Amino acid sequence: MNIKKSFLKWPGGKGRIIELLLSYLPTNGRFIEPFVGAGNVFINVDAKSYILTDSNSDLINVYHWLKSDATILINETKALFDSEVDFYELRNQFNLSSKRHTLEQAAKFIWLNRHCFNGLCRYNRNGNFNVPKGKHSNTYFPEQELINFSKKLCDTDVLLTACDFRTTITKAESNDIIYCDPPYLGPFNGSFVGYTSNSFDYIKTQELEKCLFDAVKRGAIAIISNSDNPITQEIFNKFNIHSIESPRSIAANGNRKPAKEIIGVLTPEMINNSQQKDLTK
Ligand SMILES: C[S@@+](CC[C@H](N)C(=O)[O-])C[C@H]1O[C@@H](n2cnc3c(N)ncnc32)[C@H](O)[C@@H]1O
Repeated sequence: MNIKKSFLKWPGGKGRIIELLLSYLPTNGRFIEPFVGAGNVFINVDAKSYILTDSNSDLINVYHWLKSDATILINETKALFDSEVDFYELRNQFNLSSKRHTLEQAAKFIWLNRHCFNGLCRYNRNGNFNVPKGKHSNTYFPEQELINFSKKLCDTDVLLTACDFRTTITKAESNDIIYCDPPYLGPFNGSFVGYTSNSFDYIKTQELEKCLFDAVKRGAIAIISNSDNPITQEIFNKFNIHSIESPRSIAANGNRKPAKEIIGVLTPEMINNSQQKDLTK
């Protein structure tokens, strides 16, 4: 299979396990991704139409520009890559801008993503991007990846919105396929390095499970990714759980051993069958 890569580096991006993941994703309906991130799944999956959302509005702004005018965004971004701009000066400009959804902000977001430490995306309590400079001496400008991504956004029926996962999942109807790749729950304290100023904790993961269960009762199919540990196994216990190993890209403690992950699948048939079993008890 010809695997396409996103133009963004993204913690937890699914590029490394995309082939395995695609084998669990039916593609005959509308494809809903409430945690779209770098879009590694979106660019490799073929569906009738797509709803792509993420709580990071800087990220969704980039996708809006890529869909509406990719050439102008690519030129603006390339000009930044070709300049000798200082990392902290550009990060400051990005954070000080009063208008967050401009072409300039979109170009700066891509530049920061490629020049910051490990492609992390983290904001402080005031909503300021606060990842330090990365160690790259020669940074790759992902022109072809930007072109491929914009082509997919323009050639397909895509709805893009910056919002919380609950808003997105509420929209799911019968035959929709929802793929959720939230920030993962750690094994011990239920915490994870934050992508936004609010971290994704145990309670949010439980809420996610509840939203998905309700959507599947309405006839959708839900697929989730998460870390493999007793907490996630317990939260997603109604799902069919497949344990997999994923090559690791970023670990706070420097651990690069394959990570143990789960892919969970929940279908309307599974809910019907378990309700039938309960009735016959
Ligand atoms: C693991 S990443 C998704 C990576 C994506 N699957 C890929 O392959 O590129 C998780 C994403 O969830 C988003 N996120 C965090 N909290 C959220 C929330 N409450 N609602 C929606 N998105 C959220 C983050 O901004 C981040 O982009």
